[in-house]
Amino acid sequence: MIAVVGSLNLDLVTPVPHHPVPGETVLGGDIASHPGGKGANQAVAAARLGGRAAFVGRVGDDEAADVMIDAAREQGVDTTHILRTPGTPTGRALIAVNPEGENSIIVSPGANSRLTAEDCAAAGDLLRDAQVTVLQQEVPDEANHEAARRSGGIVLHNPAPAVEGAELPPRIDLLVPNRTELAALTGTSVPGTIDEVTAAARKLTGASGGAGERAGAVVVTLGGDGVLLLEGGAALHVPAFRVRPVDTTAAGDSFCGALAVALAEGRALPDAARWACAAAAVSTTRAGAQPSLAHRAEVEELLSREG
Ligand code: RIB
Repeated sequence: MIAVVGSLNLDLVTPVPHHPVPGETVLGGDIASHPGGKGANQAVAAARLGGRAAFVGRVGDDEAADVMIDAAREQGVDTTHILRTPGTPTGRALIAVNPEGENSIIVSPGANSRLTAEDCAAAGDLLRDAQVTVLQQEVPDEANHEAARRSGGIVLHNPAPAVEGAELPPRIDLLVPNRTELAALTGTSVPGTIDEVTAAARKLTGASGGAGERAGAVVVTLGGDGVLLLEGGAALHVPAFRVRPVDTTAAGDSFCGALAVALAEGRALPDAARWACAAAAVSTTRAGAQPSLAHRAEVEELLSREG
């Protein structure tokens, strides 16, 4: 079982010729609405790949609440611990996607910001029994901290988005930042080369003798450059699969959900990361967050094609 604690957002997505700068208005294409939210995306990613996924989170009391719960349930996610929040809107995300498939996102957290430590305590049995508990940063720190404390399995923390002042959970077995989030966590500039990424990631495992141990292992997602693993002091670069991306929204969520499935199946981290890279690559070839997430057969097909 994989427990995901996190956000559910209804995504409003517009294609744009380029991302606006402050003060600029850009005319976009037709708007589309999809289920999203980093947490919900990760749970759906896990379920589509054959994992048993259960979700802990909050929706509001509007129409979007039913859309979000139904979407997760239809994909096989256990929605027992999704709570409704009276007088509160369900989370929304405003997403612009440029012709290169790059996005910019504004999240209005709504009910996600009302998730409490008590809500996570109420899901204590689930968290205790889960082989992997997956966390992100679109819900309050207190909720994540309680979930990490109650988790009986691997705690996978995806520190996304990079929230100023966010405090990491008290226990992290696997930290999965992207380059920007890694920079925010280490107080460095955004690392470019693999060597720079490795040096920054070492600061989070204590291997540099610097900031001290924050996580058992670190996996840095690098988009088209693949991922960098740092485990037990050893670094390994896993290259990305070659696909033609149309929309990179939820690629990181796809990676985290797939990584959780692979780890729950008992795979070693390097193998699990390569499998998750394949799932993330598939997700970039389709538009939207949850509509883009890979099915298991597609991942296996890409892996067999690329060797
Ligand atoms: O990671 C992509 C997700 O970020 C979107 O689905 C959006 O809802 C935001 O949470």
